[in-house]
Amino acid sequence: AIDPNFDTNREKVGEEKLDELRSSANQTAFGDGVAVWGPVEPPEKLGIHGTHVAVDYDICLADGACLENCPVDVFTWVDTPDHPVSEVKVEPTNEDQCIDCMLCVDICPVDAIDVDAS
Ligand code: SF4
Ligand code: F3S
Repeated sequence: AIDPNFDTNREKVGEEKLDELRSSANQTAFGDGVAVWGPVEPPEKLGIHGTHVAVDYDICLADGACLENCPVDVFTWVDTPDHPVSEVKVEPTNEDQCIDCMLCVDICPVDAIDVDAS
């Protein structure tokens, strides 16, 4: 399961590093605006994406229930070619729209999502 204390246990990957990752082969996995918490070593390690709504990319297996059921469409698919668990993941692109319903946290079969509702 995702570490709910990722924001203290992990380091945020800086914008510079993100620019580097965006221009690499894995560019689609690193969209603009969403924070990434390392370690990041593409294509195998892609970190935790998002802060209020956080998705552990190394746990997500592309079930899709979060994206299909979020009432405010927080998530979008991104390609993660050659990741060992799945070749697409959900990015919490619109995490600022989240209404803390906790549906995605409850529905994900592998507990890849943390929502900080406090
Ligand atoms: Fe969407 Fe609810 Fe999850 Fe927020 S907690 S991302 S509103 S499903
Ligand atoms: Fe991934 Fe879980 Fe959503 S596996 S696609 S975060 S339901």
